[in-house]
Amino acid sequence: MVGTMKKRIAVLASGRGSNFQAVIEAIRQGKIPATCSALITDNPRAYAIERANQAGIPVTVIDYSSCPSREAYEYALLKAMQQVNPDLFVLAGYMRILGTSIVRSFSGKIINIHPALLPSFPGLHAQRNALDYGVKVSGCTVHFVDESLDCGPIILQRCVSVRDGDDEDLLAERILNHEHECLPEAIRLFCEGKLVMNGRTVRII
Ligand code: GRF
Repeated sequence: MVGTMKKRIAVLASGRGSNFQAVIEAIRQGKIPATCSALITDNPRAYAIERANQAGIPVTVIDYSSCPSREAYEYALLKAMQQVNPDLFVLAGYMRILGTSIVRSFSGKIINIHPALLPSFPGLHAQRNALDYGVKVSGCTVHFVDESLDCGPIILQRCVSVRDGDDEDLLAERILNHEHECLPEAIRLFCEGKLVMNGRTVRII
């Protein structure tokens, strides 16, 4: 895009990394004016690592299970995040809660994708909880990360119909297809400076 400086983003992911892959593809296709400078993961077996290797993106592994305490893990993570210091951190299937010191250090610079229409069904098993509740519509939410779980200002949401006969896997897959569009779109808006936060409300300009 003419006149838009490329931003630097970094991704935190814990597992399969299909959202990470969607971001890699969108950058490759020139849809996001950014480079991805790092993958940070808490899980040495995450398939996201393979995706980063294939895309030539540096990987930092901070193995949660080999850290002596949650505090030690958080400290190592904070140091790794400070070292990368991108314009934006993207939580793409990062399955841990970020500690307060990290959230405060990067206030307004961390976004997360969640597989439900927040504020409904925060936390783990969002798709299962939506089904158990009997909702007819669910979806996904991209939001800024604040100090409460899945609570920060909402950037984008997409609706997905719940169909008769859906089980957790079917619904999760249908939502995931939308996540793969929604997350790159939110990153693009951020990188193009089009998100204006006013209290809880994010305006897209
Ligand atoms: C996605 O549904 C995401 O919303 C949730 O965990 C899942 C991660 O999938 N937080 P992937 O690792 O991006 O494939």
